[in-house]
Amino acid sequence: MKQVRKAIIPAAGLGTRFLPATKALAKEMLPIVDKPTIQFIVEEARKSGIEDIVVVDGKNKRSIEDHFDSNPELEDNLRAKHKDEMLKLVEETTDINIYFIRQSHPRGLGDAVLTARDFIGDEPFVVMLGDDLNNINNNGNALTKELIDSYHQTGASTLAVMRVPHEDTAKYGVINPSAEVEKGLYNVTNFVEKPDPKDAPSDLAIIGRYVFTPEIFDVLAKTKPGKGGEIQLTDAINTLNKTQRVFAHEYTGDRYDVGNKFGWIQTNIEYGLQHPQTKDELREYIKNLGAKLSAEDQKKTK
Ligand code: G1P
Repeated sequence: MKQVRKAIIPAAGLGTRFLPATKALAKEMLPIVDKPTIQFIVEEARKSGIEDIVVVDGKNKRSIEDHFDSNPELEDNLRAKHKDEMLKLVEETTDINIYFIRQSHPRGLGDAVLTARDFIGDEPFVVMLGDDLNNINNNGNALTKELIDSYHQTGASTLAVMRVPHEDTAKYGVINPSAEVEKGLYNVTNFVEKPDPKDAPSDLAIIGRYVFTPEIFDVLAKTKPGKGGEIQLTDAINTLNKTQRVFAHEYTGDRYDVGNKFGWIQTNIEYGLQHPQTKDELREYIKNLGAKLSAEDQKKTK
């Protein structure tokens, strides 16, 4: 069986939920404390054994390319001032096999993945979406590693799912599971992109990590625009599942949705509570803030 060595990170979205911040800045560069969200994704890929990464980007995304490029002026400056720790942080982001393809017209996630076909070739690969982070504090398994391990057992395309509140199903691709073949691994009857909660076949939502066999590309090339007029990856998965089994793997670790304002703030707090330079002050601040907000609430109810 071929090993999973390559990853696609689609990053061509306009990031409208974060306007005006994303007018000139790629949303993937928004930081969680001091690290751009896309760097967490790249680190997860590397921890999972991925060797080559391709980012499918669009307009206004130069900052991503610059972030993973060397910056000799900055490096010389830090070296001259003996700021070794900072130099290490800067150099860490350069020493990665990362490539960029530009999707000239954003036609949906399925189309973005198809754009990277020549880069991937005839091998299994992973897709990692930038809005979903997991295990940012390194106290559990990287989700991509779990999926790759599962692929190496089954040889089948596998995607990650997680239970979400029923009313949230309209934000996700949702699976209709038929059988749990082993703990947390499901056979799936069909996959539905963003169903209305009243039509959702389950509460198991797709959370932005996938392993695919290369056959997904032939299916994507024939997939017609679906929900929102976009070429939906979920629709292609549904078609692939008719000729080649696609499994769903249930993730039970920590997941952070940094694709919306509240999730992004929440993730900053969680990460800030672990970060050596902010954790003590932030903990104190949150405790005091909690006390202040409770006092305010009590006053209101009187
Ligand atoms: C995409 C996928 C969807 C998946 C979600 C996970 O939607 O189309 O199936 O559940 O990512 O974050 P998006 O959030 O890009 O609209």
